[in-house]
Amino acid sequence: MTQNLTIRRPDDWHVHLRDGAMLSDVVNYTARQFSRAIIMPNLTPPVTTVTAGTAYRQRILDAVDPSLSFEPLMVCYLTDTIDADEVARGHAEGVFTACKLYPANATTNSSHGVTDIKNIYPVLEAMQRIGMPLLVHGEVTHQDVDIFDREAVFISDVLKDVVKDFPALKIIFEHITTAEAADFVMAAGPNIAATITPHHLEFNRNAIFQGGIRPHYYCLPIAKREKHRLALRNAAISGSPKFFLGTDTAPHTVEAKQSACGCAGLFNAPYALEAYAKVFDEEDALDKLEGFASEFGPRFYGIPLNDGTVTLTRKDVSVPETLDVMDTKIVPFHSGGTLPWTFSRS
Ligand code: DOR
Ligand code: ZN
Repeated sequence: MTQNLTIRRPDDWHVHLRDGAMLSDVVNYTARQFSRAIIMPNLTPPVTTVTAGTAYRQRILDAVDPSLSFEPLMVCYLTDTIDADEVARGHAEGVFTACKLYPANATTNSSHGVTDIKNIYPVLEAMQRIGMPLLVHGEVTHQDVDIFDREAVFISDVLKDVVKDFPALKIIFEHITTAEAADFVMAAGPNIAATITPHHLEFNRNAIFQGGIRPHYYCLPIAKREKHRLALRNAAISGSPKFFLGTDTAPHTVEAKQSACGCAGLFNAPYALEAYAKVFDEEDALDKLEGFASEFGPRFYGIPLNDGTVTLTRKDVSVPETLDVMDTKIVPFHSGGTLPWTFSRS
């Protein structure tokens, strides 16, 4: 039985770091485990210009512990009126690695998102031309579509057309939650990939309602039925380079979560790799973790693999019930529990 697993230093391809005091209090959890991270731009106001992206990157670097080497990869938030030239300039200047499509009102701070995909076709044209990846929050937002069906309907009503109309555009279908999404990505060309979170691999929608309403299991896209969780696990351990690590760590204070209208998001950064290791171990697929965590992402983005390694050791780690942030508390994923793997920087 494997006791120590040493893998190439991994990256996290989907992270919410927020800003200000929250940024300072959460960034080092990610920087301790990951060499690079794709930084979500859903701030208020969102990151829609090269100037804003440059300034946000600097605020992140200022907040990182200098003993950890960490590179934030910045993302431009697409709006109905975004200028294709601004996006292309941000990419050419090395500020923006990718662009993010939030359908308007799909999730936290997405009110400036895209109301009709056709509104951003000129930007998608430019991105296809320059090889800039599109990151997709893949849910329709019409109130007449059931919340559990929004991802599947997004595939048939939006994503299929985008893939057809931009056959060479690199697309990352983020935080997939359904068998339909896993199947779609698997069947698509090599320019289509997906990220998978630890929480969607670990629980199904029952967790949100276990004995009462459990706000710390609520995120978007919402967890689905067990058959979908099993399909995601199969995709993650498949060894296909189309599926890679993206935690979607999304910190909200305990007050913002435990409210009559609680925010969506799990804070999984502190024990992210331990959680993925648990899943891959349960699936008897620890040999597939390095590709998923450290190789497939950079290859898809076309950037070098990291140097150095990290180690996971088969040894219990206790997850605190809460952590301190912003003069209050945050409840991490696995709060009060134990995970069977311990992470160390090697
Ligand atoms: O659960 C989520 N939280 N899903 C998202 O898409 C956004 C995120 C956040 O920013 O809190
Ligand atoms: Zn997210």
